[in-house]
Formats: sequence, structure tokens, C-alpha cells
Amino acid sequence: MSKGGVPKEEPIDEIEEEEMKPRRAKRARRERLRLPTGIEKLDKFLQGGIPQGSWLFIAGEPGTGKTVLCLHIAHACLRDGMDVIYVTTEQPFRDLLEQARQFDLDLASFNKDTLHVVDIFNLYEHAWDVRKNGRMKVADPLNPDHLAMYLRELCQKEGLENPLIVIDSLSAFWVDKPAMARRITYRLKLRLARLRPTVIGTLQYAVTTGSSFGFGAEHIADGIIMLWMDDVQRASEIRRHGIIKKMRLTDHYRKVFDYDIVEGKGFVIR
Ligand SMILES: Nc1ncnc2c1ncn2[C@@H]1O[C@H](COP(=O)(O)OP(=O)(O)OP(=O)(O)O)[C@@H](O)[C@H]1O
Ligand SMILES: [Mg+2]
Repeated sequence: MSKGGVPKEEPIDEIEEEEMKPRRAKRARRERLRLPTGIEKLDKFLQGGIPQGSWLFIAGEPGTGKTVLCLHIAHACLRDGMDVIYVTTEQPFRDLLEQARQFDLDLASFNKDTLHVVDIFNLYEHAWDVRKNGRMKVADPLNPDHLAMYLRELCQKEGLENPLIVIDSLSAFWVDKPAMARRITYRLKLRLARLRPTVIGTLQYAVTTGSSFGFGAEHIADGIIMLWMDDVQRASEIRRHGIIKKMRLTDHYRKVFDYDIVEGKGFVIR
């Protein structure tokens, strides 16, 4: 065990101070741009969108629409000409493109150009490579240091600047150590700082405890959108609700909103 308390997966290289210093910090401070969500009402609720450079978490039970919301945000940012990296630990990337298509979000045409999809198979392959090369001690695709290494290499190789990085799901990175959720998120944030990304992470909600799975990650977020459903047994149907729990730098909408997920349209706020 290292002095930081992170077990064996610790990479050989340590975080260097230089690495954590964001590039072009001054410029970004002057122009606080906002990224579109692709959903008009949500943009209004957020005073124009997601502040560039922030970490927004989308938390909710299975099936509430976290992935659908991520697809909208990714699509809107691609349309705006941004570079987008979509990390999916949940679905093979073909399924993701197919799901987007069902909501009339054409991600496929951006694929391998400004859209870079990273699925669990890519992470596995890379994890084994870096282990073979002796750059990391264990081949764990769901190690946050490994993810950071992968993303930094990708940005360097493709020349990506200030990308939108979607991590769906972030909870997958602490599935076997939920008590480390805050620490893992913080570490990831430091290791990615140099890329000056805007990050959307999905958090799984533990239905049993009524809170996010994993301790304290939400404190690291600049923003949290929470999604839930009414008790389906009592309601005898799916009724979806959401709220913006926090969004730093933003006088955001503070009430519950109702929404549906609709074929051909996706996430529709009523
Ligand atoms: N083509 C479609 N038309 C209408 N609704 C759809 C369609 N495809 C999926 N849905 C709805 O969206 C839900 C899936 O949403 P989504 O995958 O975003 O959930 P999630 O919150 O990411 O869940 P998980 O935590 O399991 O990943 C489905 O259960 C279904 O109700
Ligand atoms: Mg999902």
C-alpha cells in the first residue's frame, strides 16, 4: 500500500505537479462559455448551458435516462464543433450509436472524426498493453489512473483540445470499492486537469439506500442533475422527474421538472 492509501493498482509514474496545472487557465477564466445540452428547456434551466470546464454528474436509478441525456449533450456539442470523447463502460459502442439513432441523434456521422468512443473493450486492450510494457503494475481497465492515461494519450494523438468527456458510468470505476468514490473522482479530476475538459459523469443510484452508489463523489462535482421515477408499482406506469441539485456559477432552476423519453425525440421536458 502506498502512502496515499491506494492499493497495488497505483501506476508506476506518480502525479507530477506540472501535470496538474491547467493549461491556458487565464484565457478560460476570461471566457466562461457554456456547452449546450441539446435540450432547449434544460439550457434555459442552466442559464444557457453547462459552464465549460465543469464536472457535471447525472445521478439516477437504472432506466431513468442518464445515458439518453448524455447522448443529447454529446450530440449538441458535436454539432457545435467540439471534440467529444464518450467513455461507455455499459454498452458496446454500436449499441450506443443505435440508441442515439432511435432518438434522431446522428452520432455516427461524427464517429472517428470529432467523436471518439471508448468502450470497455478498448480499455481492456489498452490495460493489457500498458501492463505488458511495464507502465502499470496491473491490467485493470476500470482503474481511474488507467482511464486518465488512456484519455491523455488519446487527446495527444488526436490533438484534442478542451474536449467534452462523457464517462458513462463513473460509478463503474469504484464498483468494488464504493468507499473510495470521492478519492477516485478527485484523483481522476487532477489527472485530467491538463486537458481542460468539461466532464459529464453518470452515477448509479442505489435504490436500496436511496442515495448514490459510492461515498462522496458528488462533493467533487460542480453540478448534479438527479433523475428518478415514481414507485412504478404504485403508479402503475413510468413517471419521470428530475432536478438540478447544484450547478456552480449558475443561478439555475430550482424546481422539479417532469420529462419523458420519446422515440424519435429522446429526453423531452414537459
Ligand atoms: N427508442 C426508445 N423510445 C422510447 N423510449 C426509449 C427508447 N429507448 C429507450 N427508451 C427508454 O429509455 C430507458 C433507458 O434509458 P437509459 O439507458 O438512458 O437509462 P440509464 O439511466 O442510463 O440506465 P442504466 O443505469 O441502466 O444505464 C429505457 O428503459 C426506456 O424506458
Ligand atoms: Mg446508462
